[in-house]
Amino acid sequence: MNPIDPRFKTIIEPFKLKIVEPIPFTTREERKDLLERAGYNLFNIPAEKVTIDLLTDSGTGAMSVEQWAAMFRGDESYAGASSFYRLEKVVRDLTGFPHFLPVHQGRAAEKLLFQVFGGTGKIIPNNSHFDTTRAHVEFSGAEAVDLLAPESKDTQVSHPFKGNMDLAALADLLAKEHARIPLVCLTITNNSAGGQPVSMANIRGVRALCDQYKKPFFLDGARFAENAYFIQTREPGYADRSVRSIAEEAFRLADGCWISAKKDGLVNIGGLLAFKDDGIYEPLRNLLILQEGFPTYGGLAGRDLEALAVGLMEVTQEDYLRYRAATVQYLGRGFEAAGIPVLKPFGGHAVYVDAKSFLPHIPPQQFPAQAFAVALYLEGAVRSVEIGTLMFGRKDPATGQELPAPRELVRLALPRRVYTQAHVDYCIEVAQILARDKHLIRPLKIVSAAPILRHFTARLAPL
Ligand code: F0G
Repeated sequence: MNPIDPRFKTIIEPFKLKIVEPIPFTTREERKDLLERAGYNLFNIPAEKVTIDLLTDSGTGAMSVEQWAAMFRGDESYAGASSFYRLEKVVRDLTGFPHFLPVHQGRAAEKLLFQVFGGTGKIIPNNSHFDTTRAHVEFSGAEAVDLLAPESKDTQVSHPFKGNMDLAALADLLAKEHARIPLVCLTITNNSAGGQPVSMANIRGVRALCDQYKKPFFLDGARFAENAYFIQTREPGYADRSVRSIAEEAFRLADGCWISAKKDGLVNIGGLLAFKDDGIYEPLRNLLILQEGFPTYGGLAGRDLEALAVGLMEVTQEDYLRYRAATVQYLGRGFEAAGIPVLKPFGGHAVYVDAKSFLPHIPPQQFPAQAFAVALYLEGAVRSVEIGTLMFGRKDPATGQELPAPRELVRLALPRRVYTQAHVDYCIEVAQILARDKHLIRPLKIVSAAPILRHFTARLAPL
């Protein structure tokens, strides 16, 4: 519903601009040359050569006037900074957890957490581990198990909560392996499954199973506010509740959480760990001091703590979340109308193009999703990210054949409060050109690649 008047259908940006940053323009010739030099890998393109950068929504948002003002108040004392106590109060009110440790970003929290809970022989279930989460679980020697609900596996099926945990599979795993499971995790929203939300019913279901087996339950709350907004708008019984109170309820069903504040913290750097259990406070605090910093700053400047305290309050403002969801939908619908298949329903932070359906003539071994991402850049200077065989495929050690990933997706993630509707319209126009002329999308081959996390550094060439 339009916040101004129900007669209007345009959801306008709920802010005006005070500082502007010019965006660069390049020619197609220049981009063709840049791509060649970058080995057709968009991670190798300098940001100053990207007109619309939808590589990630992480740390790329614009801070508000209140956040910038709060930064001047940053107390840079090494120990006991007042900025820490201000942020601690905000985190406690939001999550209800008595213990709070600031960290420099999400993966630092994961590193601490899995040094305490992980280890060889252990199993960590999650709806879907984000790749850094999985990497820290595995680095500790434990096994990361994804238990995504079955309805989420079809990109075209419409279901309001395609980020859910498969509760039957979790019950089954706990029944068989409970002795090896030190902790159950749930990622809200589910980034790896398309930014799809998790319902409160599902969070409650995970809670009940954790109670039955006496297991701690942690939320990866990087996008907790977007998740709460989807609960308000999609789950029966929540329409009259504030997003803030829904987020508070979700955290109170868990025993702890970690948050990459670069997303719904509305800051460019930061993260946090918060939890109930007194027993894990000391080991986590001691690792924090060793690896991040003293517990009242945890790898952040006092001014970062201040900006985060404000960001965690602003992010649950409903005008903001309504505009955010509307922007993602607007971009997604534009692509769809152009004839480009996208993951449905639209998630919280990004649109995901289904390159496998769009480009059936390009086999996974020729990287259709990367080919699409490269074409978006070449034709329109728009940067996105491949989530397909380049990222998740691997070479069969026996045959040397490329083993494809289950999906070929291209993620266009929207930085928070950065681009306007005209920027989004422009991206849709670029997509229309690709839809009209698929020959602009050229299959690729790998020229060189690292053995792990190859998508960051691989070099490719057109076939
Ligand atoms: N958990 C989730 C769900 C994430 O999406 C991310 C980061 C992290 C943890 C790690 O946090 O980057 O602060 O260390 N996601 C980014 C992305 C990188 O592009 O989706 P971090």
